[in-house]
Amino acid sequence: MTGTDARRRAHYLAALGIDAYASRRAPAGPAVAADELAGEWATLRAAVAACTKCRLCETRTQTVFGVGDTRARWLVVGEAPGAEEDKRGEPFVGRAGQLLNSMLRAVALSRDTVFIANVLKCRPPGNRDPRPDEVAACLPYLERQVALIEPALILAVGRIAAQNLLGSNAPLARLRGRVHQFGVSGTPLVVTYHPAYLLRSPGEKRKAWEDLKLARSLVDGRRPH
Ligand code: URA
Ligand code: SF4
Repeated sequence: MTGTDARRRAHYLAALGIDAYASRRAPAGPAVAADELAGEWATLRAAVAACTKCRLCETRTQTVFGVGDTRARWLVVGEAPGAEEDKRGEPFVGRAGQLLNSMLRAVALSRDTVFIANVLKCRPPGNRDPRPDEVAACLPYLERQVALIEPALILAVGRIAAQNLLGSNAPLARLRGRVHQFGVSGTPLVVTYHPAYLLRSPGEKRKAWEDLKLARSLVDGRRPH
């Protein structure tokens, strides 16, 4: 069975309310699909952990793969690990991460029910902006994560994530407030402010709330109001 078939099958089972992972002990059938999917995740994790495709491998403490539910409907994508994330190996665990958690809670989500990742898996020294060659080297990992998760929605947080995911130079104010599409899958993508920016400009939180409501309405399959 190909990876695609395994994925389709796992999602089909999920749609039926059957937990393919729980059935792993079964001798055949769904367990195979679940195992293949788990294998693809393991392969991807290992590739990222050992990656030397760009110079950031020389300065990182560790890679930051991403965290959450690998079958989540929401995929949250930030820019790159900061100091705290580099230290702990998990995205959005610093101050900005605390605010991101609150933003998720506002739309009845948690870190466990979404998947959180970054455009870059390694920290740029001094938190400088990602360079185009670094993004080009790293983006295939995120694209693979999107293909495996098959989220209903991608929430791009911050200008850098939004511009790189959309291949656009437009300012964030022009990218937010509407629905974009990501990649070959055409996954709906909504842009919002980076929580680090919201910490500096709390007056913009109201707009971030609008973005989250738009995202929520798309996932729920209804119009925002
Ligand atoms: N900012 C990001 O964009 N990503 C993180 O993981 C942390 C801070
Ligand atoms: Fe590899 Fe991405 Fe880290 Fe560069 S940033 S070394 S491409 S994992």
